[in-house]
Amino acid sequence: MLRTHTCNDLTQKHLNKEVTLCGWVNSRRDHGGIIFIDLRDRYGLTQIVFDPEVDKKCHKDADKLRREDVIQVTGKVEERKKGMKNPKLATGDIEVFISKLMVLNQAESPPLEIDDYKLPNEATRLKYRYLDLRRPTMQNRIITRHKAAQAVREFLNENNFLEIETPLLLKHTPEGARDYIVPSRVHPGKVYSLPQSPQLYKQTLMIAGFDRYYQLPKCLRDEDLREDRQPEFTQIDIEMSFIEEEDIMQLCEGLIKHIWKKSINKNLTIPFLRMTYDEAIAKYGIDRPDMRFGLELVDVTKSCEDSDFKVFRDTVKNGGIVKCVNAQQSNLSRNQIDEYIAFAQHHGASGLAWMKVTEKGLESNIVKFFSDKIQKQLIKATAAKPGDILMFIADKPKKCNEILSKIRLKLGQDLKLIKDELKFVWVVDFPMFEWDDDAKKWNAMHHPFTSPKPEDVPYLIKNPERVKARAYDLVLNGTELGGGSIRINKSDVQNLVFQALAYAPEAVNAKFGFFLEALKYGTPPHGGLAFGLDRICALLCGFNDIREVIAFPKSKAAENPMDGSPSNWDEEYLKELHLELDAVAKKNVGL
Ligand code: AMO
Ligand code: AMP
Repeated sequence: MLRTHTCNDLTQKHLNKEVTLCGWVNSRRDHGGIIFIDLRDRYGLTQIVFDPEVDKKCHKDADKLRREDVIQVTGKVEERKKGMKNPKLATGDIEVFISKLMVLNQAESPPLEIDDYKLPNEATRLKYRYLDLRRPTMQNRIITRHKAAQAVREFLNENNFLEIETPLLLKHTPEGARDYIVPSRVHPGKVYSLPQSPQLYKQTLMIAGFDRYYQLPKCLRDEDLREDRQPEFTQIDIEMSFIEEEDIMQLCEGLIKHIWKKSINKNLTIPFLRMTYDEAIAKYGIDRPDMRFGLELVDVTKSCEDSDFKVFRDTVKNGGIVKCVNAQQSNLSRNQIDEYIAFAQHHGASGLAWMKVTEKGLESNIVKFFSDKIQKQLIKATAAKPGDILMFIADKPKKCNEILSKIRLKLGQDLKLIKDELKFVWVVDFPMFEWDDDAKKWNAMHHPFTSPKPEDVPYLIKNPERVKARAYDLVLNGTELGGGSIRINKSDVQNLVFQALAYAPEAVNAKFGFFLEALKYGTPPHGGLAFGLDRICALLCGFNDIREVIAFPKSKAAENPMDGSPSNWDEEYLKELHLELDAVAKKNVGL
């Protein structure tokens, strides 16, 4: 070992001991001929002192040290002088007087500061990620992630789960994003898909009799990136046999509680709240409601269909709805209301209607279109009080809810209603299908292997819209942490679901044939769930951006500025893989 202690170890207990430390030069101060250096490693900081009276040569060499040089030093631990102690540091009572200095590696001047005060832009942080990761804040996040992953293993091992790996090169997976594909050299013209999740493989493991499986798999999805979405991310993937919804939800509550306790020493109260999908959409307009504040949406379609306000009346006539959010006691100015109108339009609304609540009743340019009776109904339905502003969106149900859910969130933020707390909620009883208006067909809301509620099986073909799924999501503060379902374990039901999704039998066979075959040979009832580990870690650290808890994330443009990926291919490579670039790509590569 090149060191006897880490930079966070030494205290009064070590006074007068000779020690050897290794680390990075964090900062240097010159005081009256004596040089003080804060030496840094993953564990902390230690103040080391170069005094010419202790060692002349060392002092001279120390003068040449620069930030981020890696050094090894040997010296004696001494108590800091009165008034010089630093109670914020674990090593704040001592300093080490150095008698031997070895420069292990000289650093060039780093392109970014290794502290939290001057954060460079994202591109620089990602290009020099190894320097960014040296910052104590980033080290703590990565350590928290490690603790979370260990807590998962600890809890699931304790509960009789087996950690089993599934392949990275595989057949298409059914999660609904685009696959990343890998061309095969051995099979000209053929490709492997990279897993969007191990869904079919974990189900196959249930068929194989491993009744409790988990894995922390890398999943890859070619989709548009957001704060909480990366092209490659990590799941906590779980599957169990001979269980029902309640079993897996209870297990997951225990798991989440264990993760929070072990990673950040926080005690969570379980069980978590439960809410049906229909209730979430009705009250919050979204299936991942942020429950840290109120401002529940109110459906006022019934009151508005008879009003003289054409926008509302026509919308309802055409199958739309009118919903309202009451910005309670917001006393928004006209300019602020205009901001909300622009916000709603930016998110696709054709407009946003509003009414101010005063002592005299409702006021706005459209109030005249609403009879006294309707106005009274609106006041009652929204529990309106003077100082409130009612905001209305009239549109097709999906769009109306989407837009109002965003307005509600904005109001929560602008009015500072969001409390600093953790609000977990299970959303259950999802619809089995959602209508794709572009493709004019039904899509699986979760994935096509999710079981419908048994009582809804007769409606799969004739009334797919009324079929509910045995699916559940866990939501924390408006973020979907994870989701899963009880699966179909019978071939006839599986085939009905494919039929409802209008999948051609050949396509089903080509994509999932192996799994349908497996389903025939004794499939136990089973179900599971996957959490996003990155999302969990981000929320453990108190924010939403998952890039902050991934050692080497991709940028918003799905690039890694550090290694330069994605990169061009050379022609040799292409030949081996039996590939030819198309005209556009050729031009870009300059071939
Ligand atoms: P689902 O697609 O809901 O379910 O994914 C499960 C969880 O994974 C996380 N997640 C992501 N995290 C970061 N970046 C992404 N691009 C990304 N996409 C998803 C989310 C999400 O809740 N096989 C099913 C699970 C099952 O049915 O058991 C599945 O993958 O936190
Ligand atoms: P217009 O008929 O477009 O002049 O709109 C009249 C009023 O209705 C304006 O205040 C618009 O902001 C509002 N409005 C228009 N479309 C909608 C809608 N879909 N939902 C709620 N309000 C709307």
